[in-house]
Amino acid sequence: MQKRQIFVTTALPYANGHFHIGHIMEYIQADIWVRSQRMAGNLVHFVGADDTHGAPMMIAAQKEGITPQEFVARIASGRKAYLDGFHIAFDHWHSTDSQENVELSQDIYKRLKAAGLIYTKDIEQFYDPVKGMFLADRFIKGTCPKCGAEDQYGDNCEKCGAVYSPTELVNPFSALSGATPELRSSTHYFFRLSDPVCAQFLRDWVHGKGKSGADRVQPEVRAKDEEWLEDGKLGDWDISRDAPYFGIEIPDAPGKYFYVWLDAPVGYLASLKSYADKMGFDFLEFLTHEKTEQIHFIGKDIVYFHTLFWPAMLHFAGQPYRVPDNVFVHGFMTVDGRKMSKSRGTGISPMKYLELGMNPEWLRYYLGVKMGPTNDDVDFSKADFLARVNSDLIGKYVNIASRAAGFIVKRFDGHVADGLDADPIVNELRAVVPQVAALYNDREYAKALRLVMEKADVVNEFVDREKPWDLAKDETKRAELHRVCSVALESFRLLTTMIKPVLPATAKNVETFLNCGELTWEGAATPLSSETPIMPFKHLMQRADMKQLDELMPAKPVEPEKPAIEPIAAEVKIDDFSKCDFRIAKIVKCEHVEGSDKLLRLTVDLGEGKTRNIFSGIKAHYKPEDLEGKLTVVIANLAPRKMRFGVSEGMLLSASGLDAKDGLFILEPQEGAKPGMRLR
Ligand code: MSP
Ligand code: ZN
Repeated sequence: MQKRQIFVTTALPYANGHFHIGHIMEYIQADIWVRSQRMAGNLVHFVGADDTHGAPMMIAAQKEGITPQEFVARIASGRKAYLDGFHIAFDHWHSTDSQENVELSQDIYKRLKAAGLIYTKDIEQFYDPVKGMFLADRFIKGTCPKCGAEDQYGDNCEKCGAVYSPTELVNPFSALSGATPELRSSTHYFFRLSDPVCAQFLRDWVHGKGKSGADRVQPEVRAKDEEWLEDGKLGDWDISRDAPYFGIEIPDAPGKYFYVWLDAPVGYLASLKSYADKMGFDFLEFLTHEKTEQIHFIGKDIVYFHTLFWPAMLHFAGQPYRVPDNVFVHGFMTVDGRKMSKSRGTGISPMKYLELGMNPEWLRYYLGVKMGPTNDDVDFSKADFLARVNSDLIGKYVNIASRAAGFIVKRFDGHVADGLDADPIVNELRAVVPQVAALYNDREYAKALRLVMEKADVVNEFVDREKPWDLAKDETKRAELHRVCSVALESFRLLTTMIKPVLPATAKNVETFLNCGELTWEGAATPLSSETPIMPFKHLMQRADMKQLDELMPAKPVEPEKPAIEPIAAEVKIDDFSKCDFRIAKIVKCEHVEGSDKLLRLTVDLGEGKTRNIFSGIKAHYKPEDLEGKLTVVIANLAPRKMRFGVSEGMLLSASGLDAKDGLFILEPQEGAKPGMRLR
């Protein structure tokens, strides 16, 4: 069989934190795949790296008074313990903040530019005048234009779930300095993805197949891509950020840096290059080799970057770059059916898992049992974990060795019987080995492991039926005992072969104990030899227990009862109150605001002899025509606020509860009130 040569990556984790369980899940999925390929004799270079650049990294470092490089190095130095701990066999781990990445990213950019796919355009963006920098959406906060919740991020409201652009926030402020951001213009660099040639290339790419014949992307990913690629939908991609920025400089563009998502995937190539240089093979030769496959494992949240931007970058940069053969997308890990969240404490800490002495292979097996080729989420539940590990892994698989090995060692000096080749059980197991190997290749781990456990059942039933412990009591049944235990051990060897990608450490112990050399797919055909004695059996794996799981994931604290109403604010003096000037206002005119799905523009009369302009985030709650002519209450001495759509000269008062679903209500005075009357 022609051997494959494969370049495999996992998504590069942001270097602003340690690995969480979602990262470990991704690595386990990729690692199982890589190991199964290596068992087929294929050449695999499996590399990772830290994704280091971007504003968050710069700011996190600033907060701690260290350089971004120092900050990143600190996280990087903690990586190995996790990777070794969970038996993740990366060949190499690198960084996007590396010379290789600078050179490759700039090279790709220059080629895109030469191809006419880069242009510049001035855009308006929020700028923090105190920090002296443009603000990414996540560094702008303000009051939600929809529900009025304070201290919400620039792109969505955590309270009511509304999605908006930072310019729609009421009272926007910089999360970095607290300053009111200003809209400023700056030149940005764009990748002309909207070019019909790009869209057409991508449409072909997502419908194509990798060199192995596997679909480039899974059907559910392709469907999403098709949606994004519908006529005219794909916009150009803003690939530049202004200084100060922790990133890679754009050639011939002083003060401009690549947006982190441009140089991040190039980090895959940078890591491969760094590995090639270390190992002494030729990076370019490997990359451009006609047999080489390039395969990325990623989570479903970053599909856009990996199946649109990344292939387009590579394709239009041209030789020696090549498009990915496959992008394999997994779902998210949830815990007891809930999205993990650090703040809610429902995540599983991988380091704690290891520190508690829990066997990393339990987790590998458990996740394997739950993983398929789709991007469905994978749920972790304690009871399920215990059942899969204890009943299946220990009860079915490990059990076989402990039932048979003792007799072979004690009664037969460690030698198995001859003629295992002809045994029907051995043959039944051997027949499914290629099937299981193919299932791993298709990332059908759940199916592969189900098949392994089915065959473990067959072997256990055989042992139950033949009762070696009874045969051992009768000296005339010695040959029978030898045969039964030998079949069980050879079956165990085959089962171990089939489970080896998932349980690499156990498989290694079994290789030692069976004295059988390295287990490979091909090696399945050659049974244990009666010539080579096995070693005394050592316990292979402990059972998992609920106590450990409870320690790993303490039962969640009972949530405090929700108050019926929003708690009353801190006490104020009458002077504080008098500072706010509330007036009766007549809504003279009310209209929709072009370009905003949150705001209404109100023209109000406070009896001042002129009208005022007020923007209010009440569009979801009121129709303009229903408000015109009505009286309401506004705060009249609030500093005017510049918004994207104009200046707001006051604020409408409205009532809302703790639950956004309860709605939002503006106030209307009793009959007789007149515009301009003050509330006291
Ligand atoms: N830095 C980017 C990737 C750049 S790739 C050129 C990034 N980093 S990340 O740290 O946020 O995520 C890394 C990987 O972990 C992604 O593939 C992401 O989907 C995956 N996961 C993050 N949370 C996850 C779960 N809860 N469950 C499973 N995988 C998840 O995105
Ligand atoms: Zn809101």
